[in-house]
Amino acid sequence: MSARTLLEKVDENLYILRADDLDVRYFEAVWEIPEKITYNAYLLLEGDYRILFDGWKLSYSDQFLELIRSLVDPRDLTHLVVHHAEPDHSGSLPRVLEANGFRAAVLTHPMAATMLKRIYGIEAKFRPVKDGEEIEIGDGVLKFVYTPWLHWPETMMSLLADRLILFSGDAFGGYSIPSSIFDDSEEVVAEFLPHARKYVATIIGAYRDHIIRGVEKLRRLRKPPKIIAPAHGLVWRRRPELIVDYYVRLAKGVPEGDKLLVVSGSMYGSTEKAVKVAVEEAARLGCAIALHRFDQSESASISEIIGDAIDSRAIILAAPTYEAGVYPPIEYVVRLIARKIPPKPALIISSYGWGSAAARIISEILSSAGFKIVDAIDFRGSAGDEDLEKIREGVRKLVEFRF
Ligand code: FEO
Repeated sequence: MSARTLLEKVDENLYILRADDLDVRYFEAVWEIPEKITYNAYLLLEGDYRILFDGWKLSYSDQFLELIRSLVDPRDLTHLVVHHAEPDHSGSLPRVLEANGFRAAVLTHPMAATMLKRIYGIEAKFRPVKDGEEIEIGDGVLKFVYTPWLHWPETMMSLLADRLILFSGDAFGGYSIPSSIFDDSEEVVAEFLPHARKYVATIIGAYRDHIIRGVEKLRRLRKPPKIIAPAHGLVWRRRPELIVDYYVRLAKGVPEGDKLLVVSGSMYGSTEKAVKVAVEEAARLGCAIALHRFDQSESASISEIIGDAIDSRAIILAAPTYEAGVYPPIEYVVRLIARKIPPKPALIISSYGWGSAAARIISEILSSAGFKIVDAIDFRGSAGDEDLEKIREGVRKLVEFRF
């Protein structure tokens, strides 16, 4: 298993060490990412200070050390900054410490220090830092900012205060392997943003309020960062505020135009027939429809559904009743949406054979998460003319609804 590796100067004496993970199929062993992902570490060589920020996943440790060695002897690393304990970044830490002879101070959140010791069974010169703490590094200052739940509770960022370079960890990152290191072209940014959307929805969506709080906290710093250097995806130096604003929009669930998410599950076509009518009505009303299907020939990507949900204006969920419950793939989707996506108006469509359950259960799950159910329409067997008219009416109510 090997990554494609990149090494490039980000700023004076500062380098990015990027691993393009072409092997991964399911991030966190859950989220399907055919677009793949990068792991970004950074190395600062400032006077006598040799500071490594984060790392790569365990399986790429040898390549990581090779890239470090092209700039510095790992034994000379003076500080390792760990912004986040999740193993996509910390996996290489034990090997780096070994190569370093455990000489470097490991600057991290106190909770991360405990977690890293337990995850890797390592002892090192852990030097927990406080929120807002500043340390002098040569002529510069490195400031630590706790940003809990972006993405775990122990997560922090660090700021090269004099140069306004923010190492932001998971935050302001995204899936995919951008064709460049930096956000220098409109094209590369336009390609990246949908992958950032899917990443925010799947990875940080459950903690979306913390995105807003974290950004407010960063905005209270004296000056906005000139460079944002995340642990995944693009480095932002042309328009760093663009990705910050985009994250806030996603966290608030701001809709992208009249985007309507439709998720359809159908075992034998009855529900699908009703969904087709709903989609025709929504298209007639000018919605941009993102349709995902589970049926006998298709099994939609759950990651793409969650990614499409976060900036939809409304959603339609359709599923048959299955074993006195909800058709399983749709139940999984509904529970994820309830957990990760800001509340939206929703229309439920469902068919059943001998007893109705799915429409009620989906409505209950979404209502308890704050979603507004504009209607839940179910029917025995195949939808008749009257049911189809109710569905058209439901779509009209959905499209008109405003929170
Ligand atoms: Fe990229 Fe939460 O780790």
